[in-house]
Amino acid sequence: MADQRAGIGGVPREGAVAIALPFTVRPMRVGDIPAVMEIERCSFLSPWPESAYRYELRYGATSQFYVLQPRRPASPPPTWRDRLRDALHRQEPPPVLGYVGLRLRGGDAHISTIAVHPDWRGRGLGLLLLLTAVEKALLCGALRMTLEVRPSNRVARRLYAKVGFVQTGLRRAYYRDGEDAWVMTLGPLKGADIDRLQDLKRAVEARLMREGGLRGL
Ligand SMILES: CC(C)(COP(=O)(O)OP(=O)(O)OC[C@H]1O[C@@H](n2cnc3c(N)ncnc32)[C@H](O)[C@@H]1OP(=O)(O)O)[C@@H](O)C(=O)NCCC(=O)NCCS
Repeated sequence: MADQRAGIGGVPREGAVAIALPFTVRPMRVGDIPAVMEIERCSFLSPWPESAYRYELRYGATSQFYVLQPRRPASPPPTWRDRLRDALHRQEPPPVLGYVGLRLRGGDAHISTIAVHPDWRGRGLGLLLLLTAVEKALLCGALRMTLEVRPSNRVARRLYAKVGFVQTGLRRAYYRDGEDAWVMTLGPLKGADIDRLQDLKRAVEARLMREGGLRGL
């Protein structure tokens, strides 16, 4: 897993301390596919088939996929009372809370997919996943990122706009149901943009810590 102290662009954050967020982002493995498919099916009108993930993980030399996973507490609660309260009230989170995919194309990166489990949306996890993908793309030398989004997907469009993606194109009848796609582009990123993204990532991590964004973990 990437060093939590390293920021977007791999630049160490000034005065950064290692913060133990209650989850981890790591490369997707074949064993994650069933959990990913559960999210996929309730997130997209035309979900990718399971075979597409298997193929990408096995042969997708230019693709990278990451999952966001709850981190188990390192030690059990100290007292039997706490343990009992935990057992009664704790809701087991799903094994995968969200995922993101990117594909490297020349010097650019393309965000191929992103989704968060419906029960875990609206807490900052989608933003964290997207910023992680941007970070990974930058580490591979891609200063420009693109993606496609349905114009009707207001939530995703707002997420992308928050990170700095702007509409740069239109693909007519791109989706199977005939809806157009907006092409959105971020970059080419310069130093100041990377600083801003680093601040955004720091802010979402702080929010997740402050709000107990992963209640129950
Ligand atoms: C798009 C998606 C990944 C966002 O994940 P999320 O964890 O809910 O998003 P976050 O909580 O990180 O929110 C990030 C930003 O997105 C926007 N957003 C999130 N939920 C929103 C809502 N209900 N209404 C409007 N904007 C919203 C906001 O700009 C938000 O920033 P803010 O919290 O500062 O207001 C998630 O909704 C999802 O999985 N959707 C189904 C799959 C999908 O559409 N993927 C994109 C395909 S192009």
